[in-house]
Amino acid sequence: MSSPASPSAPIPPLLLVGCGQMGGAMLAGWLADGLAPSVVLDRHRDDIPAPHRVVRDAADLPRDFVPSLIVLAAKPQKAAEVLPALAPFARQAPILSVMAGKTVGGLTAALADAGCPDAVVIRAMPNTPSAIGQGMTVCYTPPGASDAQRALCERILSAIGDTAWVTREEQMDAVTAISGSGPAYVFLLAELMEQTGTALGLPPELARRIARRTVSGAGALIERTGVDAAELRRRVTSPGGTTQQALSVLMAPDAWPTTLDRAIRAASRRARELAS
Ligand SMILES: NC(=O)c1ccc[n+]([C@@H]2O[C@H](COP(=O)([O-])OP(=O)(O)OC[C@H]3O[C@@H](n4cnc5c(N)ncnc54)[C@H](OP(=O)(O)O)[C@@H]3O)[C@@H](O)[C@H]2O)c1
Repeated sequence: MSSPASPSAPIPPLLLVGCGQMGGAMLAGWLADGLAPSVVLDRHRDDIPAPHRVVRDAADLPRDFVPSLIVLAAKPQKAAEVLPALAPFARQAPILSVMAGKTVGGLTAALADAGCPDAVVIRAMPNTPSAIGQGMTVCYTPPGASDAQRALCERILSAIGDTAWVTREEQMDAVTAISGSGPAYVFLLAELMEQTGTALGLPPELARRIARRTVSGAGALIERTGVDAAELRRRVTSPGGTTQQALSVLMAPDAWPTTLDRAIRAASRRARELAS
């Protein structure tokens, strides 16, 4: 017989708190992979398919529902509002928080104040490609979590993409800045390539198609070949050719190397600030 943590078993019942951009992306992935009857708390979603249930307000959470895991996907700023209502459930199931910045210590203390002193909180940072099973989720388990709880998180998160674990909680800030926020950097690239293509005289629809396909094709090539990104870049760059001309602009020390470094460090700093 397969255990709940085994990849062949259905994804065990979840209480998903917050079903916006990130919670919605994860839910889409879980629904596609077979999710046991679960409960979603969200003020806006009205398209949650049966047998899953949606409630609008934490006060309406069904008291008889026993989730295997509580997935906390509200904005970090909403943590204080939502945590007290989760305390009764946190006595029975671990919490997997995907909230940027919010620390295990801070969340555990808030749950203790709400009457649940022995809540287990595990942190994860997923990203929105989870919606199509192509996510990247990095987790941090505090010493208090059991191997079974960690295996349960692995089971649930590997259903929506790749997973990795870090051993120090502060590493989650860098993870947030690279993979949590990262899809936005790639979408911006597609957006800007499309804009410049149009400015150079291409029909807008064609510029859009070329930009999108180039980004998705390059991503698929990295994934399928496993070749280093730098080597793939070199393979496109003939000496004296058009790509080299563009890269001499992009790779100038004050261009992408500096800009992207500053951007990622700014995101990482913001993740740290969100802890309080
Ligand atoms: N977006 C990403 O790509 C991404 C990536 C990695 C991690 N994350 C993390 O995921 C979390 C959610 O981000 P998001 O972008 O998905 O936010 P979002 O789109 O605003 O989704 C959160 C949803 O939860 C609802 N909600 C919050 N508190 C509630 C309550 N007490 N009762 C009922 N509904 C409630 C919100 O409704 P209201 O708006 O009415 O409050 C909203 O619909 C954040 O902590 C973020 O750090 C996001």
